[in-house]
Parts: sequence; structure tokens; C-alpha cells
Amino acid sequence: MDLKNNNVLITGGAGYIGSWVTRYLLEKGYKVMVVDKLSFGSESLKGLLGNSKFQFKNCDIRNIELYKHHLKNNQSVIHLAAIVGEKACKKNKEETNSVNFLATLKLAEVSAHYGVKNFIFMSTASSYGVQDINQVADENTVLKPVSLYAISKINSEKELLNKFSDKLNITIFRPSTVHGISARMRFDLIVNHLVLDAFKKNEITILGPKMWRPLMWVGEPSRIFHNVLQSEESKIKSQVFNLGTNDENFQKIEIARLIKENFVSNLKINVVDKDPDLRSYRVNFDKIYNILNYQPSKKIVEAMEEIFFSLKKNLYSDLNSQKYRN
Ligand SMILES: NC(=O)c1ccc[n+]([C@@H]2O[C@H](COP(=O)([O-])OP(=O)(O)OC[C@H]3O[C@@H](n4cnc5c(N)ncnc54)[C@H](O)[C@@H]3O)[C@@H](O)[C@H]2O)c1
Repeated sequence: MDLKNNNVLITGGAGYIGSWVTRYLLEKGYKVMVVDKLSFGSESLKGLLGNSKFQFKNCDIRNIELYKHHLKNNQSVIHLAAIVGEKACKKNKEETNSVNFLATLKLAEVSAHYGVKNFIFMSTASSYGVQDINQVADENTVLKPVSLYAISKINSEKELLNKFSDKLNITIFRPSTVHGISARMRFDLIVNHLVLDAFKKNEITILGPKMWRPLMWVGEPSRIFHNVLQSEESKIKSQVFNLGTNDENFQKIEIARLIKENFVSNLKINVVDKDPDLRSYRVNFDKIYNILNYQPSKKIVEAMEEIFFSLKKNLYSDLNSQKYRN
């Protein structure tokens, strides 16, 4: 297939999702420029140095002067860099606003100025927040965020669509919570941390067992970004898509059961009814299936198996390290 839009600038390309996206697009034949300040180290990019199609700028996305000239050569921007997750956002409220919101708008403005065509923004399904569990949230459902993190993403979504829809092909994704192995590993995400606890202690604790979460393998965003960059404008311009699959909305207790049934038969499961994290949402993914023909490539149990494998093979230097947690 002839590639369209084959120069891509990825912010946050060294991160948990970004290091998959960077590799996947390089494999598909894109030229990739990553802008990332390496908040969690440089390990995830090391294997890419020397690839003639890969370039890297180590800087804060807010210093746009340092990398804006690269936007001239790129038809597409995939914007992943952010303060990610409520714990990190609460600790750095001002930074959350300046990185997640203000820098996003500045990046869009400069991208439009330099003639970038596609601007993909990674929002979050956490924006649905606390939903009536009898309803499954689609892209038109009223958002009910319960975190600064989600609010920073919703504000960005609105402003991007309001201010830049006529200048850029804006495509917004609200992804499910992600799991699985990545070159920049995270053990603070629900599936990964439960698998780690099961592996280390044969015991896990589930807060809010009945609360709902849509889940997705970490490699999936890469595939959908490639799809968007090769799609007709009419399918992706000014569109918001939930990213995930209808089959993988889970109550938290089901995640525990899957681990016990498939991997640790003597697992002790502690249940605490209350969770300080109030989010509970089931998400409908018909739109992405119908318009972009997207179906996930990996089921949750397969991804869990890979995490167990990596733990058994001792692939992490220090499992307690902060570099695995946002
Ligand atoms: N992981 C999930 O479950 C999930 C779910 C929904 C949405 N998302 C979104 O996907 C994107 C990627 O998430 P992730 O899990 O890979 O997070 P991550 O924290 O692993 O990656 C973020 C990357 O951005 C970089 N970064 C942060 N601030 C920066 C700045 N000011 N300048 C330059 N680089 C900066 C970090 O160094 C890191 O490499 C984020 O926008 C996040 O909101 C993630």
C-alpha cells in the first residue's frame, strides 16, 4: 500500500502507549519524529536510535520554539504527551493545565500555521466519569468527569474542535484504560498492577468490585492511528471516537476472576466495597467499528499472559521503581 501522510510527529512517543505507536509506525514505513522530555527515562527509545527514519527531540512540549520547525515537514501530529492519571495531575495542578490544556492548544495553533494536515488528540474515556450503569456511554453521552485529569482533556477536546476544525483534520480518541507490556512499562494501571500483585503475593485487593471500566491492550492505539492517517478525510475530520471494544467493558471483580481462573488458581481476592476513585462507566464502541472498521487485535487474557511471562523472566530491574508508575 502507498502510504499517505508518512511524516509524523509524535509527542509523548517515549511513553507507555507512545513507545508502541513509534515502533508500529516505523515498521509501517512512516518517518517518525518524537518530542518527549523523558519523564520516565530513555529506555523505551534506546532500540530506535540508528534507525534512519527515526528522529528524537528531548524537550518539553511547552518549548515549542525548540521543535516548531519540524512541524513544517510533518503532515501529521499525534499528540500523546500529557500529565497522565489523576494522581499525577493532583500533585501538579498548574503543570496539568499548562501541559494538558495550554500546550495542546499552542501545538494545534503552530501545527495549523505550518500546514500540518492531521492532528490526532488522545483524550480519555475517564471523561465519562460516573455514569448510570444501566446506560452504555456513546460519544454523545453527557460527560461527568470526577478528576482534574479528565477535565483537562475535555477542555482540550472542546477548544480543539471549536478553534481548529477549519484548519486541521482534528481526530479525537477517548481510549479505554490500557494494559499490557510496553518498552516503557506502567504498573500503576489496573490490570498491570493486579497481575503484578497476583504474581508477587498470590493476593490482590479490589476496590469497588462492581465498578465498570472499559479495557484495551496497549498496542491498539498504534493500529487505529495508522488507520486514521490512511483514511479519507470525510471519515476522520472533526470526529470523536471511543476507542475500545464492546466486549471488553468489565466490572473490576471480573478482572480478578480472570486472573484466578487463568493464571493463579490459589489467588486470594480481597474485596473492599468502597473505592475513593468514583469512576464507573460502560462505553459503547459502535462508532469506531462502523466508521473505521476497528476491531481489537488482542484479548485481555492474552495480554495478561504476556505480563506474567515478563515477570517470570525477570525483565524489570526494580519492580518498585517509580519509573513504572505515573
Ligand atoms: N494509559 C492509559 O490507560 C490511557 C488511557 C486513556 C488515555 N490515555 C492518554 O494516552 C496518552 C499517553 O498515555 P501513557 O499511558 O502512554 O502515559 P505516559 O505517562 O507513559 O506517557 C506520556 C509521555 O509524555 C511525556 N511528557 C509528559 N509531559 C511532557 C512535556 N511537558 N513535554 C514533553 N513530554 C512530556 C512523558 O515523558 C511520557 O513519555 C496520554 O495523553 C493519556 O492521557 C492513556
